[in-house]
Amino acid sequence: MSNFMGEILISEEQIEKRVRELGEEISKDFEGDEVVLICVLKGACMFLSDLMKRISSIVTIDFMAVSSYGNSLESSGVVKIQKDLDSSIEGKNVIIIEDILDTGLTLKYLYENLMTRNPKTLKICTFLEKPARKIADIEADYVGFSVEDKFIIGYGLDYEQKFRNLPYVTCLD
Ligand code: IMP
Ligand code: MG
Repeated sequence: MSNFMGEILISEEQIEKRVRELGEEISKDFEGDEVVLICVLKGACMFLSDLMKRISSIVTIDFMAVSSYGNSLESSGVVKIQKDLDSSIEGKNVIIIEDILDTGLTLKYLYENLMTRNPKTLKICTFLEKPARKIADIEADYVGFSVEDKFIIGYGLDYEQKFRNLPYVTCLD
């Protein structure tokens, strides 16, 4: 598409297969139960919409927007809630749906923040994780793929707000 893009790291077919598996795993863990999927905007929107189709439990969705990156490539470590949930999660089974666990600072903040709202259970499902970059003490319960320490774009992930629409995962060269 552009000459600064690297090779395709994860194809559409691989994503589809893995998302189906994650959906089955979540369905098994929450069989006969209700679950609230909290999509972390904007990066997780494509992952949420594909994943929710593969979950057979009763699902509701809600959205949160946080900022930590601005337009730079490095995490500032400062997390600000730009948009909070519409509904209470008290007593509910909740899964945070995130695009990538990079340093983990964002997810750690979100996890601790949502824990104070007394959900019944709180899990983390991330499409990608970059183990080489992790700083925060936080583990995801469901992980799509582990990736190398490259700047990833596509399938919801952006560079300066662009490239979220790519149906596969690639990186900046
Ligand atoms: P954190 O470093 O784990 O706090 O990641 C914060 C956020 O930065 C993630 O939710 C992503 O939206 C974004 N991010 C981290 N790594 C990448 C990347 O490789 N490509 C695009 N966005 C990224
Ligand atoms: Mg994000």
